[in-house]
This record gives sequence, structure tokens and C-alpha cells, in this order.
Amino acid sequence: MCGIVGAIGHPDAASVLYQALQRLEYRGYDSAGICIADGGALDARRAVGKLSALGEVLAKDPLPGMTGIGHTRWATHGKATLNNAHPIMAGAEVAVVHNGIIENHKILKAGLIERGHVFTSDTDTEVLTHLFAEAVASQPDLMSATKHVLGQIEGAYAFAVVAKAFPDQIAIARNASPLAVGLGEGANYIGSDAMAMGSMTRRIIFLKDGDYGVISRDDIELRSEDGTPAQREVVMASASPGLVSKDGYQHFMEKEIHEQPEAIAHTLAEITAADGGFNFELGDAAEMKGMVMLAAGTSHNAAMIGKYWMESLADLPVVTEIASEFRYRNPSVRHLDMAMGISQSGESLDTLMALRYAAEQGLKTLGLVNVAESTIARETDLQLLTRAGPEIGVASTKSFTAQLAVLLGLAAELGQKRGVLSADDAAKIHADLASLPRLMGAAMNSFDDIRPFISQLARAQSCLFLGRGMLYPLALEGALKLKELSYIHAEGYASGEMKHGPIALIEEGLPVIALLSNDEHLPKAVSNLMEAKARGAAVMVICTESTKEAVEDIDTIITVPDCDPLIAPILLSIPAQILSYLTAVHKGTDVDQPRNHAKSVTLE
Ligand code: M6R
Repeated sequence: MCGIVGAIGHPDAASVLYQALQRLEYRGYDSAGICIADGGALDARRAVGKLSALGEVLAKDPLPGMTGIGHTRWATHGKATLNNAHPIMAGAEVAVVHNGIIENHKILKAGLIERGHVFTSDTDTEVLTHLFAEAVASQPDLMSATKHVLGQIEGAYAFAVVAKAFPDQIAIARNASPLAVGLGEGANYIGSDAMAMGSMTRRIIFLKDGDYGVISRDDIELRSEDGTPAQREVVMASASPGLVSKDGYQHFMEKEIHEQPEAIAHTLAEITAADGGFNFELGDAAEMKGMVMLAAGTSHNAAMIGKYWMESLADLPVVTEIASEFRYRNPSVRHLDMAMGISQSGESLDTLMALRYAAEQGLKTLGLVNVAESTIARETDLQLLTRAGPEIGVASTKSFTAQLAVLLGLAAELGQKRGVLSADDAAKIHADLASLPRLMGAAMNSFDDIRPFISQLARAQSCLFLGRGMLYPLALEGALKLKELSYIHAEGYASGEMKHGPIALIEEGLPVIALLSNDEHLPKAVSNLMEAKARGAAVMVICTESTKEAVEDIDTIITVPDCDPLIAPILLSIPAQILSYLTAVHKGTDVDQPRNHAKSVTLE
């Protein structure tokens, strides 16, 4: 994953690089570093752990200068140690920051060692550093040196390089990992995304795969993969918020849970037309044969719920695919005409690659993303935006419920266009969606209702989430949230599947969290949780208000306001999120930056 930044021409490059890294810390927080090229001498500061550790180093030992590069790391090759922290240097000649994986690094390293290079890190990136050290010595200029290096490497990368031999330039390149250049006044910038440069400039050039180039304080020279000059459009990035603050909340996740009524309201405004109907332009909906939804993690759980809606409301066949699996198994797509990529960041490489594969197979692509300038938004044929605002906590919360709101709206629109839903049915769904901000606000009461049960859950080694129908994917999401935040082993199961094996896991006191709403599955879902209770499980029910009458002898029942079962997965998400949040806080884990994790996964 990793975030990379660069600045050239700014009087205090280190300070703007640090600010840019703050905006990229969502990409990884194993270590961070900055290298400044001041009059040709390269000088770096690096620190293991979160960016604040680098901040402390810089406060004691500042780095003056106008040109530099920076990095925040999510470790792949090599542990999170100081030696492996970027910028990776080749002596005092070259420094490199890199996001991605150089796939042929082993063979390159063997050759470099034979030629006398001494390696000081375990990273794949270090081959780039030594290749650049050779190239700047043998090539007439930094552009030729970059081309020379690119001719030797394979893999996914976005990198930036400063070299003592070319003190007034930074070399850049991208392939499969995102990279953007920001145009400033008397200075230029580099970032893994536009947001990184938000406080410096909004004039952005997004590099295309295979692009490389050299930037100086007043010039940007780009080449395409074949070496010809590349003209890339300058776009105005949307106004970037200042560094997002916690606004008095203890954690970003807590704030983002509370922001959901607003996030849904903004998202509904995005998908609602002037006449009050839905605002989607997907071409000839009546003729659509089928859709594949491609996504990862929480976004994949949203896709699974979306499938229920698309099939039941629009009679549209939908397959959901874990993006990282899709393109590697020769999927048959003859029965499909559209691929929808669902991604908060719009940068998950698995999802992006799956969408590219789908496009190669002739499918129309649609991106459902939260970041309007993201790679998926730019590469897909059609876009749907959630307007959840920046999500900083690594655990997805408001982006998930916003994705669900769009998916339900889309299903209703397609249903109407395909003659499955009447205008009245579609209007009812619209009204139900419109009621969500109010209902979600009321569901925040769950914080107080859930608190008394947290100490028991926090002691558990393991936990099960159960759901049927549309609430099965929500059970998967509840389990994912608990795992990633509190490090408690948790699994989500379709309630009816329990008796086909997993019921063997139930022993006295095992926490089982059942998600229920007043839908057609209720009687069977209740029977399934009674089967768990009869075997000693400590059952907690999370349900809509009137549903609680259907369950007996359950001590812990957390309710949200009554709603149409169609929107219940959206509303019931809130107590599921709160449960995980409070458990993590109780256990003292790092809520906003859980271990081994990153907000945006830009590696395969
Ligand atoms: O940005 P994306 O939605 O593409 O990210 C996909 C997953 O990495 C993400 O949903 C992840 O599972 C959640 N942040 C976990 O809470």
C-alpha cells in the first residue's frame, strides 16, 4: 500500500511533505520518512511506527531545503524496521520512495550484488535505488536514467526519486499503483492521491499506467510507456477538506459512526433527481442481462446485500465476486453485460484490476466509489458516488451504509425500468430511504444500550454472528468489524447453515450475535438462534423494535427503530458497528489504525 509524496520549489519542503503524509497515513503506518535534497546533498529522517514518530524526529532534527520526497509504509518485503523505512538510499547518491512491489527484485538484486552493490534493507525497493545509482552515472539526464531503470523492472509501482547528480529534479513513474502531480505556484508536488496535495494545490495531473517523467519547480515533463511525450489533462480536484479532525470524539471511527445520518442524507441528495425520483443513467436497463459486482472486504459485504435487492426488486441476475479472485479463474461472463466495482477509496488494487479484466472481456464498467477523483472513478465507463465524506478510521462505517443506500436506490430504479416495480413501489422505497437519516439518528441510542454487555464480549476468544437473507452479509460484516478492531476471532454465518457443521463450535458461554428484522425469514431465524441458545450460547439479538416480540428468553436485546425490512440491513449496521467499536475501546486496541491493517489496499 504505502503513500508517497514529493515537493520541489517550496521553501520548507519537509513541512509540506509531512502535512501531505498526514493525509496519506490511511495507506499504511508501519514507518515513515522524508529525504531532502538541499543543494545536491541528500539527508533523510526516518522513524518506525506512526507518522507522529517521524514528527518527533523532525522536531529535534529539522530538514531544511526546497526539494524532497516522503513515504508512509505498509510493510510488504521486510519487517517494519528503521532499515526498511523509506526513503531507501543508495549511499548519498540516490533516495527512492516506492509504493508497490518490484516482482523481479530477486534476480535484479543478485545482479546488482555481483556488480558490487551493498544492500542495507530487506525491501524490494532497494533494487530501484541501486538501479538508479547506476543509471544516473551512465545516462545523460534524469529522464533517460528513469527510462533505463523502467526497462529493467517488472511489477506494480509508483515511485519518486531524488538524485545528488540532478539536485533540481524529481523523477517519477507509475504502473498499476496510483500517482498524481500537483501544479503549484513556483513549486510542484507529487502524491499518491489528490488529497495528499490538498493544502498545496487543487490543479492535478493523474499519471496513466506506464507514464514516467521528471518534475522541476517550474516544469513537468511526462512520457508515456513508449517514451513519447505524454499530454495529460490538468483537472481541478474537488475542494479538499483541511486535515480532518475528530471534532471532540475520542476516535475517528466514533465520529464516523455518528456522521452516518448526514452521510446518507448527502448520498441520497446525490442519487435523487429534481422530480424526486432516482437519478441514475445506466443505459438500457430493460435489456440488461446481468451484472457482476466486484469488491473487497466491507465493500464486498455491501455487494452481497446489493445482490439481494437487484435480484428481488429488479429481477436482474447478479453475481458478487471477491475482487482478488475474479480475474484469476477465467470467469465466464457471457451472461453478463456490466461489472460494478464497489470501493470506498476507489483505489483498492484488487477491485481496480478485476474491473480492468471485466472491461477487457467486453463488459461495461460502473464504479460505485466514495472518492470522486479516485482511479476507479476515472477508469470506469459510469460512476455512482457515495457522499459519505472522508473516512479516516480504517474500519469502514459510513461508507458501507452509504454504499447500501445507493445500491437500494439503484435496484429500485432498475426495477421500475425493467417493469418489475410499479412507480408506487419505487416511490415507497424512495420514502424509506429518505427516512434513514432520522432513523439512523435514533439508532445511535444503541451506544448506551450496548455498553453494559461489552466487558463480557471483550473477554471472549471467539464469537459468531448469525443472519438470514439480507442479514447474512450483515453478519459477515459484523464479524469483520469485530475481528479487525478488537482482534477477537469472529465468524459470520447464514443462520440456516449452522446446523450443517458450525453448530459444533457452540459451547457454554460462546457469544452468538443474531441479526433479525421483521422479514419473511424471521420465524426460521429465531428457531436457529434458539438452537444455539439450547446448546449454551450467550445470545445477543440485534433487531428492529417490533421484532423483539418474536424472541423469548433472550437476556440481551438491542433494538433500532422499526422500519421496512428492505432498509433493515442499513439500520442494523449501526449497533453492529457500535458493538465492535466499544469492544475495541474496552480492550484498548488501536481503534482507528488496527494492527497490520491499512485503509486503502493498493497491492494485490
Ligand atoms: O476502499 P475499498 O472499499 O475498496 O476497501 C476494501 C476493503 O479493504 C475495505 O472495505 C476493508 O475491508 C474495510 N475498511 C474494513 O473495515
